[in-house]
Amino acid sequence: MIGRLNHVAIAVKDLGAASEKYRRTLGAEVSAPQALPEHGVTVVFVTLPNAKVELLEPLGAASPIGKFLERNPDGGIHHLCFEVDDILAARDLLVAGGARALGGGEPKIGAHGKPVLFLHPKDFNGALIELEQA
Ligand code: CO
Repeated sequence: MIGRLNHVAIAVKDLGAASEKYRRTLGAEVSAPQALPEHGVTVVFVTLPNAKVELLEPLGAASPIGKFLERNPDGGIHHLCFEVDDILAARDLLVAGGARALGGGEPKIGAHGKPVLFLHPKDFNGALIELEQA
């Protein structure tokens, strides 16, 4: 069921500074910032040959990464995103196996314009998992 690693997401306090680090220090291709109010974040994607890095900055007072950045003031790895062919089938299989889907379990449209869903980190060894329908 699980497909390719789509991206590793890193929460940052300063998206501009983080983008410049990837662009200048690592010579990476970095996208323009994209505000996602329904997810409470602004994102950029760093394109690597085999996957992407997603840099996340809080957007709005109720951002889901606000508390994470309070606990991790230097930023930190926030989630991993795996691709799946059919997100509803994947969700149903995982929930039947005891995993908890966040946000009521209904997929939202993510930064790539595709349905995404998050799974509780306590069910995945402490790692927040995002599924994206490829
Ligand atoms: Co993501």
